Parts: sequence; C-alpha cells; structure tokens
Amino acid sequence: MSRSRVVHRCQACGATSSRWSGRCPGCAEWNTLVEEIVLSQPGTGATAPAVGAGPAAAPVLLGDIDGWDSRPRPTGVGEFDRVLGGGLVPGSVTLVGGEPGIGKSTLLLQALAALSGDGARALLVSAEESPHQVKRRAERLGVSAEGVWIVAETSMPAIRTAIDKIGPDILVVDSIQTVWDPELESAPGSVTQVRGCAHQLVTLAKGTGLTTVLVGHVTKDGSLAGPRVLEHVVDTVATFEGERHHSLRLLRASKHRFGPTGELGVFEMTDAGLVGVHDASGMFLADRRMATAGSAVFPAVEGRRPLLVELQALVVPSSFGTPRRSASGFDAGRLALLIAVLHRHAHISVQGFDVYASAAGGARISEPGADLAVCLAIASATLDRPLPDDLVVIGEVGLAGELRQVGQTPRRLDEAARLGFARALVPVSSPEAALPTVTAGSLAEAVGLVVGVPPPAAASSAATNNTAAGRRCTE
Ligand code: TYD
Ligand code: MG
Repeated sequence: MSRSRVVHRCQACGATSSRWSGRCPGCAEWNTLVEEIVLSQPGTGATAPAVGAGPAAAPVLLGDIDGWDSRPRPTGVGEFDRVLGGGLVPGSVTLVGGEPGIGKSTLLLQALAALSGDGARALLVSAEESPHQVKRRAERLGVSAEGVWIVAETSMPAIRTAIDKIGPDILVVDSIQTVWDPELESAPGSVTQVRGCAHQLVTLAKGTGLTTVLVGHVTKDGSLAGPRVLEHVVDTVATFEGERHHSLRLLRASKHRFGPTGELGVFEMTDAGLVGVHDASGMFLADRRMATAGSAVFPAVEGRRPLLVELQALVVPSSFGTPRRSASGFDAGRLALLIAVLHRHAHISVQGFDVYASAAGGARISEPGADLAVCLAIASATLDRPLPDDLVVIGEVGLAGELRQVGQTPRRLDEAARLGFARALVPVSSPEAALPTVTAGSLAEAVGLVVGVPPPAAASSAATNNTAAGRRCTE
C-alpha cells in the first residue's frame, strides 16, 4: 500500500515545503510554489518513485572500459558545431534553451536532417508539433529530412517504446517541458515531471550511448522555465539568444563537459531557416553611422572569436528628479560605476542628464575590456564630438581612473584591421599589435586624446609620448 501526501514544490529550484508560502524558502523566488501529490513508499518513508533508480553499479577499472567512440560527431550545422567544440559527443545529453520562437526547433531540424543525410539514425520526439507541421517546416527550410524518424508523443512510456523500436543514434526531444510520465504523480509541466523525465533520458543516454538533445523553453528573465535543476543533470547547456524581431541569433554554451564554454555561434534567421554568419563583426557593424557622437567600437572576444561591437551612448537632459541610467547589452551596475569614474577622474559630468548606453545590434558584452569604449561613447555624447571613424578602443577602467590592459589584444586588433580600422586606442601596458596604436595611461588622458578635452595637469605627463599621435586621433 502506498500513501499519498501533499507537498508544495518550487517550480524554479525544486525545493519542497509542507506549507504554501508566497516566496520559495530555497531560492527566494516569488509565486513559484505549486501543490503536488507525492506517493510515500511503505516502510521507507521515501518519496516515490525514485527516478532512474536501479541495481547499484559495480566499480570497474577505467582500463577495462571499452567505451563507444567518444569523439564529437559534427551535426552539419557549422555554428552549432563551433559552440559544441566540434559536434555532439555520443552518449552525451545537451540542453538547448531559448525563448519560444527563437529558433530551437528550426536549428535541431536542420541538424537532424544533416545527421541523417550523413547516415545517422535520427529520431525526433515532437511533443509540441504534429509530424505534418514538422514536414512543412523541413520543406520550408529546403532540407532533406526524409530519413528523420518522427514521433509526436508526450508520454515517457510511448517515447521509450519509440526509442526501442527505432534504435536511434541521435534523439531530440522537443520540448522536455511538455513530456510527462504517468508514473509520477504530478501535473505535466511541473518541475517533478520535467526533472523526472530528464533523469530517465539521461540514464538512458549514459547506459546506451544514445546522443540526446533536449529542448527547453526559457522564461523572459532568462532562466529555464521551471527546472534550473535540469542544468545539473545534462552535460552541455547551450542557450539561444536574440531579439525575436531581429534576425540575428546567438548561441552560447554556458556549461560544457567536453570542451570550453564561451564559444559563440552566430546565425541569421532567414526565410530558409538559420544560416551561419561567418563575418559576425561585419554584421554587427553593418548599420553603423559614421561621424556620429556617442559611438565607440570595441573589439570583443567571445570564446575564441573576435567580434567588433559598436557601443553607443545617448545623453539627454533629465526631466525627472533622479536621472535615468539605462544599459542594454551590458551590466547596468558597470555603467553606473563608469559614470562615477568619468565624473571623478575625467571631468565629464552627466549630473542632471539621463544616460542610455547600449551594445548595438543585440550584442551582449560581459568583458570589462569594453569599459573604455563605454566611457568614450558617453564622453563623446556629452560633448557632442564624434570619435574618429577608423578607431577601435580597448581598455578596462579602474576606480582610480587608470587604464588596464585587456587579454588577447593582438587578436582583437587583427580583426579590427581586417574590417578596415586604421588605429587603436589601448592602455599603455598593452603588447605590440598589427594596428598602429595610440596609448593612454588614464581615462582622463584617453578622453583628452579622442574627444579633445585637455587632460588634467596631473594626468598629462604620461601623454607626452603620444601627443603627436593623440593629435592625429582628433584630426
Ligand atoms: P522555431 O524554431 O519554431 O522556434 P522555437 O522552437 O525556439 O520556439 O522558430 C520559429 C520562428 O522562426 C518563427 O517566428 C518563424 C521563424 N522562421 C523563419 O523566419 N524562417 C524559417 O525558415 C523558419 C522555419 C522559421
Ligand atoms: Mg519549437
């Protein structure tokens, strides 16, 4: 005899509580507790059923294991492979997350079509769309998906039956949030269901070497809907980002057991599906307007990929008591800090002004190396003096107004040179690079060099070596 009891489970972190409360005691999220019924196993008192539990595994020597071929297998979608470090590793479980409509199903259908064309047995569990819809999508994409098996099922037992029947090399479950197991006593879509089904698929993948990709929707705040817990059970988490109304799509791995994270995949959503963008810098800078105040170009590095990004600032008189500070594409706290350093050490004051700063084209910058570009964009907007069009800017800004060098400067400047930029403003300690560089030791000096404000007397000594170059910069 099994007994049931009611618990309240957080749909974000999975923590349980016997009472309902407005805020999760585990992760402090609001309104995430949902009532669930769990069965108690007689005698043990444990909640049941234990997902993936089986006979205890016996220890073995690593030398005795003849593993399946664990080299990554290219998916045939170049930018996806770049993010995965070559392709999907057999037996691995990859979670592809992203907001609804961003292109997850499209990406995976393209990958499955290419893999099946390459001789792999591919099975798509389409838990959200009918086989006809998927077929129409394949036709629209112009890919040959004839060899892809599809099953439109949401229940775990049916999915297992399909897997047993087809014996696929690669399985895609689209999406994990819609799959449910009747053995688990909670509603489809609940964190217990999602976690339970994911566990079963992970156990299956590890046991049989079946390469598995799970699709997961993320909510607006960027977390995987419900199961943050999912991220721990999979090998790789790749997240699709981009504006729905903008054709650019960025794919990043935030967790990867088989290679480095931080590698960036860039796609454009076209009428014929996702197309890899090889010249990402060119695309980010395509709509840049020349000779405009409030703009600075920063050569970023995402993973191993250099990427030129335009940082823009708009400074306007504030109509409210507290001026607005708005950052898009980078950290708002960093913007506030840089405004303070500009005020204190470079005599650029934006008191009484709203400041809007953004990385153009939907790019997202997390490196402090972009500090100087942000500061110069703000200084340029404040003084209404454009930066030279052929200049790129690199440098981290310290609280004392000093400039610090940034890693991989030569690689960044190579990319800038490739795109036709003629010079770079870098911190004094930066290494030699392909592009002619102008150096500055402090933020005040950098502002003086490119937007023409004379540096304060104390900071000007370091500028003497570069005064000629500096003048060239503002010409
Ligand atoms: P989809 O892959 O269904 O998104 P997800 O699975 O992440 O929810 O992509 C849907 C969007 O992509 C939809 O707005 C239409 C657009 N799209 C194209 O622009 N071109 C195409 O070739 C396809 C298939 C979709
Ligand atoms: Mg979809």
